[in-house]
Amino acid sequence: MAVEAGRDIAPAKGKLGVMLVGLGAVSTTFIAGVENVRRGRGLPIGSLSQMGTIRLGKRTERRSPKIKEFVPLADLQDLVFAAWDPIPDDAYTAAVKAGVLERHEHLEPIKDFLQGIKPLPAAFDQYYVKRLQGTNVKRGETKRELAEQLREDIRSFRKSAGVSRVVIVWCASTEVFITPGPAHQSLATFEKAMEQNDPAIAPSMLYAYAALMESVPFANGAPNLTVDVPALQHLAEERKIPIGGKDFKTGQTMMKTVLAPAFKARMLGLAGWYSTNILGNRDGEVLDDPESFKTKEESKLGVLEYILQPDQYPELYGNVFHKVRINYYPPRGDNKEGWDNIDIFGWLGYPMQIKVDFLCRDSILAAPIVLDLALFFDLAQRARLSGIQEWLSFYFKSPQTAPGLYPEHDLFIQQTKLKNTLRWLMGEEQITHLGIEYYEKA
Ligand SMILES: NC(=O)c1ccc[n+]([C@@H]2O[C@H](COP(=O)([O-])OP(=O)(O)OC[C@H]3O[C@@H](n4cnc5c(N)ncnc54)[C@H](O)[C@@H]3O)[C@@H](O)[C@H]2O)c1
Repeated sequence: MAVEAGRDIAPAKGKLGVMLVGLGAVSTTFIAGVENVRRGRGLPIGSLSQMGTIRLGKRTERRSPKIKEFVPLADLQDLVFAAWDPIPDDAYTAAVKAGVLERHEHLEPIKDFLQGIKPLPAAFDQYYVKRLQGTNVKRGETKRELAEQLREDIRSFRKSAGVSRVVIVWCASTEVFITPGPAHQSLATFEKAMEQNDPAIAPSMLYAYAALMESVPFANGAPNLTVDVPALQHLAEERKIPIGGKDFKTGQTMMKTVLAPAFKARMLGLAGWYSTNILGNRDGEVLDDPESFKTKEESKLGVLEYILQPDQYPELYGNVFHKVRINYYPPRGDNKEGWDNIDIFGWLGYPMQIKVDFLCRDSILAAPIVLDLALFFDLAQRARLSGIQEWLSFYFKSPQTAPGLYPEHDLFIQQTKLKNTLRWLMGEEQITHLGIEYYEKA
């Protein structure tokens, strides 16, 4: 039963251009994955937008359409890809080097397609990613000039690929840690800082600025500050463009945001949580630099603090020792191993331990998130949702929120928020899970 009119959403007509910043492990796994799915050579497992259903109305109504049939999302057949990267490898070479997908099964059959995706020169500066060297880079006197070149790339891609809409997802390396400063406070100070080559303006911010100036939604998959600054948030609101971030929530943090709410729900205490990882891909190498790791560490550490609310539960969570490590270990490549040792305590303070050993594949977990973000940010744009898209917190380790709000990290609250937003967009009743009407009949 529809309870309100819903949002007037422009149809997903024509092609959707997905421009990726970075053409490394995550991006190539995403692109190659979509193409394999389009050719019937695999399923988009891990993608809520493609595999998920959404319950509508009462449980007795038995209405649970697939999300992609419920909301007007772009069809996978209509996606067209482009990317920037300082390393000149085309998507095929980059995918082979990343070593995520099985070459004969998932790359050779689509070799021509992947070879057709060649990275545009990047706005890149080694100051922000110490462990990388790039040759395929833009030249310009000022950062503002580089941003203008990025805008030109977006415009030419629109024309050459014949796309009607574009979204940008940052899938590039994690930049060094930056805190918001005076340069980030307003559009005027931001633009001036670009002109003065202020170090406070990282390359990722140039892409975000270019995206917003070209009316393109921007999602940030890494923990960099990027769009998480007032200047770009105001610009997004002013120009009515959706933005979101940051840092894809994939392996260890996803598990953390499932387990921590469970302890809290049962009022079990937590003494310590030690998380360590071994990772051998390029991301692991970049994160081996202490300045890039600091950016990631902040993003990973915040989660427990917000979920457990130590201020409200000092006896249970007032003294948690939380540590996160990432160790670069080349033999494992993209197949990360994440260990968690969790020290909890129960009735009368008796201690217990939980060990999690997640032998995951980083890019296999991240690729479907890139897909969902591209599709949902495009939907948001067509539904005239602008600025921070908190309903997409589900996908991020450090979700952006309106100023003054604390982020919601619990994966299942995030999922409810996402699905309720879809219901709201389509004029369907919110699901509160009260359910008293099944028992209290008139
Ligand atoms: N895979 C996951 O589970 C996961 C989860 C959360 C976040 N991330 C983040 O996603 C990002 C991508 O991960 P990945 O495994 O694909 O890394 P990767 O190293 O394989 O790819 C990143 C690519 O970005 C390029 N790059 C760096 N700076 C750039 C710039 N200024 N412009 C354009 N390209 C640039 C690099 O040359 C590289 O090819 C990383 O920041 C990582 O921390 C990944």
